[in-house]
Amino acid sequence: MERRTIAIGSDHAAIEMKNFIRDELEFDGYSVKDMWTNTPEAVDYPDIAHPLAELISKKSADLGILICGTGIGMSLTANQHEWVRAAVCRNIETAELARQHNDANIICMPGRFIDEKLAYEMVKIFLSTEFEWGRHENRVNKISNF
Ligand code: RB5
Repeated sequence: MERRTIAIGSDHAAIEMKNFIRDELEFDGYSVKDMWTNTPEAVDYPDIAHPLAELISKKSADLGILICGTGIGMSLTANQHEWVRAAVCRNIETAELARQHNDANIICMPGRFIDEKLAYEMVKIFLSTEFEWGRHENRVNKISNF
């Protein structure tokens, strides 16, 4: 099977969680692009989210993972990019539905409100769930302004 490329990034609020997930995914056999941050200094979440979203938009990575304190800033930023559907998820069910119903291609997670174990479980379900098409296709097609 072709190795899938996953891009991952966080701001200072979730570096350890980001690195934990990155390492687990590499261990699982994914090709992982670490889009930072990797230093403890505060960074502005758009500086991480824009380059990662650009990778997804250009199809240089298959799916993305963005983590900040709430997941919200990352999502708002990433959704400015063409073809990007970045969904804030905070449990396994929403991570699964974001793929099944919304064809989300970036999962955004609230690093300050979930633990690493749950975050990794959410990522695993997000990466392994397919879009359901059917009635959801037309709805997803109506989202974009681009
Ligand atoms: C950083 O303090 C925090 O604002 C950021 O991680 C994120 O929650 C923004 O949406």
